[in-house]
Amino acid sequence: MQEILFETELNVIQEYENLLDSCYPAKQDKYDALNLIDWDFKNFQTQYLTHRFHSYPARFIPQIPKAFIKLFTNEDDFVIDPFCGCGTTIAEAFLNGRNSIGNDFNPLACLITKVKSRLIPEEDLIILGKKLIGIKRYIDSDHRRAEYLKKLPRRNISNLFNRDIINELCLIKESLEELRDKTEIYELGLVALSTTIWSIIESENGHGNGIDVFANFYKKISNTMDTIREIRNIVKKQPKVKVLHGDARFLEIDSNISNLIMTSPPYVNALDYYRVHMYNMLWLGMDYNGFRRHEIGGHSHFIANRFRLLSEYLADMLRSMIEMNRVLRKGGICVIAIGNSSLEYERIESYKHFLAFAPYLNFNTIKTIFRNIDTTRKYTSKNIGKIDDEYIIVLEKTNDININSRDNGFVEEIVTKQMKEFEQKVQKSPGSSLRGKKVSEKRLKQNAERIAEAIKSIPQDIKIKGL
Ligand SMILES: C[S@@+](CC[C@H](N)C(=O)[O-])C[C@H]1O[C@@H](n2cnc3c(N)ncnc32)[C@H](O)[C@@H]1O
Repeated sequence: MQEILFETELNVIQEYENLLDSCYPAKQDKYDALNLIDWDFKNFQTQYLTHRFHSYPARFIPQIPKAFIKLFTNEDDFVIDPFCGCGTTIAEAFLNGRNSIGNDFNPLACLITKVKSRLIPEEDLIILGKKLIGIKRYIDSDHRRAEYLKKLPRRNISNLFNRDIINELCLIKESLEELRDKTEIYELGLVALSTTIWSIIESENGHGNGIDVFANFYKKISNTMDTIREIRNIVKKQPKVKVLHGDARFLEIDSNISNLIMTSPPYVNALDYYRVHMYNMLWLGMDYNGFRRHEIGGHSHFIANRFRLLSEYLADMLRSMIEMNRVLRKGGICVIAIGNSSLEYERIESYKHFLAFAPYLNFNTIKTIFRNIDTTRKYTSKNIGKIDDEYIIVLEKTNDININSRDNGFVEEIVTKQMKEFEQKVQKSPGSSLRGKKVSEKRLKQNAERIAEAIKSIPQDIKIKGL
């Protein structure tokens, strides 16, 4: 029985790989190939090679970018992900020999992406290995530790972890600093340190009690080094990879250079990445406040009327899609994966809004793919519950547009149209995202009033903040 089951699973995966390896000379054939893929990717392994380096909330599974990269790009092409997160697209481009540009405003995301998409020479890994032995000796020497503890500053972050843990983390960080001029291994060390910090935060009591910090760090860094060695057999030549710490609404990327954009943007009202990664960023000396000011989809404001978040989000996404059009070549493909979210018991179908933007931006809609997210990989948000399905929209750029992403007039016009359509939808069927909760009619009526208010404040809410 086991064998039969295993055999079946293997076939599905093999079929997918064979399909991607087939030769598709005409674009139409590639579009047809999209119909042959089972996008649920049930039972597929998603944590392989560099994808294992660091966890990241709401990342997409590597099979999605891999399929588009293999079907729609050739070796010298550039793949772009304007919201690259932990670099799933960029790592897949790297593993499949394509050039790529990743962009994200989260500095931690940029760091992880860089480390996941580069080869590192053996001599540098040896230096890092020796450094690990040095760190271990440093930590083991009780006398020096005691001295060190006395010198530790009383920082705010100290409240979360106990003093021993802070001591070890500081020693590791300090030792890594000595490698600063060897960027590749220095950054690899920082990623391992960040995953260790994550393990402490995630530990049962959130204080890391019971966690052996160095052992955790050592294991992470050794596994990462093993993977980098393994990858040398797969990636024979380092493709060009650029990782930009930038805002997706104003990409610092030349126009018309890419054949494929493959991205999953932030959700409205789902998650504040700056909060999730605040401790990692503090430890790594990164500016989390700067990121907070630029973050799209965050929900720490507009508390009195959450629907204002939606117009702000739509404006930010419209600006980002204008930029996507600009950096794509004519005929290039723009793929956006996004799930539904929820605001005050009303379902937000972001993909429908993006599809509505498409014709204004000279994007032709090729296909909308619906996929179920595997139960084990569902992403849960306090605000919107489980995100259990996802839409992948496939657009083709038919032409350049003569619109700048800072054009407030254009953005206001399109966002107002979308918000009015949303208002009508809510009037027709209020409470579309109740998910079993009982809410009074009065409460839902209040939503309609708030949406009307949000529409009135569009001109001020869509103004570019954070710059
Ligand atoms: C859904 S995640 C992307 C996950 C990614 N596909 C992966 O697999 O890791 C959305 C990303 O958008 C980023 N983001 C939010 N606001 C941004 C902005 N203004 N410019 C660039 N990136 C931004 C967040 O930091 C987050 O990494």
